[in-house]
Amino acid sequence: MLIVGLNAYHGDVAAAVLRDGQLVAALEEERFCRIKHVAGFPQNAIRRGLEMAGATPADVDVWAIARGRRVHLVQKAWFGLTHRPGPRLLGQYRNTATTQASIPDVIARTFNLDSSRIVARFVEHHPAHLASAYYTSGMTDAACVAIDGFGDFVSVSLARGQRGRLEVIDRVYFPHSLGLFYLAITQYLGFKKYGDEFKVMGLAPYGTPTHVDALSKLVRLEPEGGFTLNLDYFRHWTGEITMRWDSGEPNVPDVYSDRLIELLGPGRRPDDTVGSVHENIAASVQKVYEQAAFHILRGAHARVPSDALCFAGGCAMNSVANGKIRQNTPFKSVFIQPAAGDNGTALGAALDAWHASGTYEIPRMEHSYWGTEYDADAIAVVIRNSRVVEQGRSSLTTLPDEAALCETTAAALAEGNIVGWFQGRMEWGARALGNRSILADPRRKDMRDIINQKIKFRERFRPFAPSILAESIDEYFVDAVHDPFMIQVYPVRPEKRDVIPAVTHVDGSGRLQSVTQISNARYWALIRAFQKQTGVPVLLNTSFNENEPIVERPEQALDCFLRTDMDVLVMGPHLLRKRR
Ligand SMILES: [Fe+2]
Repeated sequence: MLIVGLNAYHGDVAAAVLRDGQLVAALEEERFCRIKHVAGFPQNAIRRGLEMAGATPADVDVWAIARGRRVHLVQKAWFGLTHRPGPRLLGQYRNTATTQASIPDVIARTFNLDSSRIVARFVEHHPAHLASAYYTSGMTDAACVAIDGFGDFVSVSLARGQRGRLEVIDRVYFPHSLGLFYLAITQYLGFKKYGDEFKVMGLAPYGTPTHVDALSKLVRLEPEGGFTLNLDYFRHWTGEITMRWDSGEPNVPDVYSDRLIELLGPGRRPDDTVGSVHENIAASVQKVYEQAAFHILRGAHARVPSDALCFAGGCAMNSVANGKIRQNTPFKSVFIQPAAGDNGTALGAALDAWHASGTYEIPRMEHSYWGTEYDADAIAVVIRNSRVVEQGRSSLTTLPDEAALCETTAAALAEGNIVGWFQGRMEWGARALGNRSILADPRRKDMRDIINQKIKFRERFRPFAPSILAESIDEYFVDAVHDPFMIQVYPVRPEKRDVIPAVTHVDGSGRLQSVTQISNARYWALIRAFQKQTGVPVLLNTSFNENEPIVERPEQALDCFLRTDMDVLVMGPHLLRKRR
């Protein structure tokens, strides 16, 4: 049975391909169309995913679409009666409903199929989030929670995962949303692009949470893990703003009202410098978010008293809060799938469709490498066609022996070079995890500024993350657990902070990726080689891009290498060294 799961006409559109329940490919459209967080229809992701399955669109048995059809009508009607939103919001509902209904037609039109033969299964947004976490967790029994901005009129959902079945037992409905709360303050702080919340999370440790009392006015915690927003501070429910998801980069107008400006003063404009007041507000929103999220999760545990938590939704990308879940709730183990945001609903919809046909084993997702790959010959052709060697811009060494490749690359890193590392299958989810990564020596204090200024051209406050051999987690981090997806932040041991200063954030924390031989053998071998040469089993790892989606093809990697100040590019066995 061939299932294609889709997230379409939302942010971060994506596709996942399952054959007989086995994940074959999971891909985000942004990597192909080169527009970050792109909305619309993920036609390239579908096409490439099916190619990897050796199939065509005509072979697909079920198209699992992460969208509810005619769901929560009672709640929607009640909201309309009690809040009287403007006609624009009602118009948006109607447009969304029309788009949902027409997705099978879009599939038919795009791939030249007979629409009457398309089997479409609509999986509501939140159940798709929950399925994406539960069915990849390797856990039989777990509490499953999704927290996000909104999807299908819901912003929080709680489910019991039991022996391969997911039963949703509670929801928080529009207009109340913890994701919207974080978004509002992100926009207030002048970060206006879709998905900019992570910048606030990076800024927070520089500040002091002086505005917690003020921001607590926006979110009221209710009994049993509930909460409500004080809607006076928000505009998303009034019908005054329009969000579009039909194509291009999503653009969400400011969701906060003038009441927030009365409370905090004027917001930061995007070009203003980031000052201490912004740092303090960032620290405060992170703190209020954490208090509310742990309140929701404790409430979830009271309803589903399991040791295990499967967590999804855009808020599950808050890696700082994620690393504190075990300390602040009764949960003892936490599983978060690498595409916890809306991209992951494509995978969740596909898994929901598969598990609906029976009760099956739940394997644990051990790695995120579900994307495209290019072999050594294809990479060699790209290098040859670019003529970089003939033009004297780079030297080329090809090292088919993996040990030699890793030793040479590790030596280049230890000498202070910044290395582009393009290997194997592309990552699924927002993080580069050692296959489309830029790597550097974490021991150099100045490395963070060098990369920010020469390669990534980004804000000084954004941290870089460590990749560490799984065997060495306890030696470097406090109370951390193996996390191949870099989605939980933990304190770096105080005595190690000066050993790896480039990946230790200002508050002494690090968002680690732990690497095993099973999850990524070549990357593990590279870090091991670096450890042998330096004594440190850690590399600085940041995504291979420069103000663009992560590179997908060798051409894009080579282009990024040439237009930035990167020193070395390793693609497959081929090592290019820039001539200075
Ligand atoms: Fe979502």
